[in-house]
Amino acid sequence: MRFFLTTAIDYVNSRPHLGTAYEKVTADVIARYKRLCGVETYFMMGNDEHSQNVYKRALERGMDPLAYCDQMEQEFRAVWKQLDCSFDDFIRTTEPRHRAAVQKLAQACYDTGDIYEGVYEGWYCVSCEAFKQEKDLVGGKCPLHPTLTPEWIREKNFFFRLSKYRDALLKHFADHPGFLQPDARRNEILRLLDAGLEDISMSRAGQSWGIPLPFAPENVVYVWFDALINYAAAVGYGTDDSKFARWWPADLHVVGKDITRFHTVVWPAMLMSAGLELPRQVFGHGWVNFGGQRMSKSLGTSVDPVDVAQRFGADPLRLYLTKEISYGGDGDFTWERYEERYNVDLANNLGNLVSRLAAMAEKYRASRLSPPGSGGRLAGVVADARTRYQAAMDVYALHDGCAAAFEIIDAANEFIAETAPWALAKDPANAGRLDGVLFDVAEAIRIAAVLLLPVMPASSAEVLRRVGERTPVGELRFERDSRWRAEGERVIVKGDALWPRSDDAQGGPKGPPLHPGGGHVQSVRQQVGTKAVSPQHREDAGPQPHRVEADLQVGLKKESTLEEIPAAAAPTTPPAEDQRISIDDFMKVELRTAKVLEAEAVPKSKKLLKLKVDVGTEQRTVLAGIAEAYQPEQLVGKTIAVVFNLKPAKLMGIESNGMVLAASPEGGKPTLITFDETVEPGWRVR
Ligand code: MSP
Repeated sequence: MRFFLTTAIDYVNSRPHLGTAYEKVTADVIARYKRLCGVETYFMMGNDEHSQNVYKRALERGMDPLAYCDQMEQEFRAVWKQLDCSFDDFIRTTEPRHRAAVQKLAQACYDTGDIYEGVYEGWYCVSCEAFKQEKDLVGGKCPLHPTLTPEWIREKNFFFRLSKYRDALLKHFADHPGFLQPDARRNEILRLLDAGLEDISMSRAGQSWGIPLPFAPENVVYVWFDALINYAAAVGYGTDDSKFARWWPADLHVVGKDITRFHTVVWPAMLMSAGLELPRQVFGHGWVNFGGQRMSKSLGTSVDPVDVAQRFGADPLRLYLTKEISYGGDGDFTWERYEERYNVDLANNLGNLVSRLAAMAEKYRASRLSPPGSGGRLAGVVADARTRYQAAMDVYALHDGCAAAFEIIDAANEFIAETAPWALAKDPANAGRLDGVLFDVAEAIRIAAVLLLPVMPASSAEVLRRVGERTPVGELRFERDSRWRAEGERVIVKGDALWPRSDDAQGGPKGPPLHPGGGHVQSVRQQVGTKAVSPQHREDAGPQPHRVEADLQVGLKKESTLEEIPAAAAPTTPPAEDQRISIDDFMKVELRTAKVLEAEAVPKSKKLLKLKVDVGTEQRTVLAGIAEAYQPEQLVGKTIAVVFNLKPAKLMGIESNGMVLAASPEGGKPTLITFDETVEPGWRVR
């Protein structure tokens, strides 16, 4: 079995950001999963170099464009290496193999009669590198690049007869319902096809940066027509027929939602015209936003994936991108949420489990665990989770695959709590039972680590080493090695904490000093929060592992303290000049509008209401100390303001994820800040 997998190739006018990295990491997870399943895999990535912006950027830097692209290739490769992307091939569109493929395919379409000369007059967005119709623009601007003005161009172009392929494309979609996933994207493209297709320019006039048309070399191939051919070029189209026969068609193109149209309409039509097979599937993933905003250098909302990887290591980042964003939908990254997930999933959950097992194995069994296991429930949990994992990963529901692996980790932690090995160890009569419990936990960890190998390759390999797995990771196979094994002694290896809590170690294992937003919530809250709390007070608020809770306890320490703290601060004298905050400090606090979906009283609390709110990108539970001022039913449907980037905290056993804003007179009841119905959930308040 073979699997040929590609990502989009990136424009190199700027370095990768977290959004482009998302695509590469998730595609890498798929490639690694396929290899784990024993499938011979060819995973390719690359750079798209013939864009006008790339050319301009090179000139701005006073560099020859090719030398600039060479330099960017090194930068891109370094980033992908840091994120542990295991590509088998990396193509650049300035390579001779790509040029040969582009010229061959353009000639083939020309020979079919699908390319003709004409004049293009209309809009062009240089950042999309796309011809735009009036209806594509919003207020005269490209909606994806609202800070730029599209160019009006009129030039002699060669056109590709895209319109001719509409019916064939519709038939292809009908015959291959899985061709484009997820379904929402498929429906979008079907609507577009229903509306009809226009022919597209496939060349640009008067430009030197690009590949000359074989039949009219004074023109260069339009950058998208050029770029799409990279997938065929990489596996030998135009240069190596036997390689091409072996690998084409591609099994999966992983691309962003903004460019699925090029991949499922233009590219298939080009292939049909050239008489080549169509890719088997295209997956159009969603966007990763930063704090709810589109990632963009010009808007200052771009996140460097290397900064994130340096915070806790590449694997925590890979896990976040894969597990926290439902694959196919949009997702969000904030430093706070990243740190929170790191602490919850890795430091407290998996990392703690591995350390506990090693400590108990050493203490009670000199680190040697013997089968057959306890016969307890873990084997069953693992079997179910394994089935769910496989079903999810096979359809690229990567987030569900991760969740299934974490079910095993949760269950193992619960199993330790239920069976209490430390109590069993006290009575020699329980020796057999203790053996069994420890063996089961080791086996559950082993299988969870096998399932997580595609997502967290380096740390899963380390976990496997620690639980005594002797097969080299490259030789592990899903089918054989993710099944419960009740044989073979396990030699458990003790080691340093795999993922120290972010507040135990300065910036985590590999982290640089805390990144803005990565650990400053407390100080921000101290400056702008409802009540100043001394650092001493915060330290007293609770020992590890409850720092996250301690943060919100600044405002809502515990019920008794809550009685003393109004929901919002009463007016005080203006702060002294040196205590005022800068606009940057203020902007660290992300206030958003939220719609109350459900509200209920919190049992045994006079003050607290539990609200379920829609914050635009997700639904959250937020506790609010407003029960004395509002009946729950009064709140449903109201649009209120919440602090969006506050660390979660547990109050009365309920996790609160955010804080509502209200005004209160001294000692009086709070009044919520509300908005009228024209305001939608998720808008930023500033
Ligand atoms: N060069 C074209 C692709 C040609 S493929 C034959 C291009 N390049 S890009 O650098 O702009 O984008 C590369 C990929 O990153 C695209 O699939 C794009 O959708 C994806 N992303 C860019 N920003 C993104 C996010 N913020 N989030 C997720 N993916 C994002 O388009």
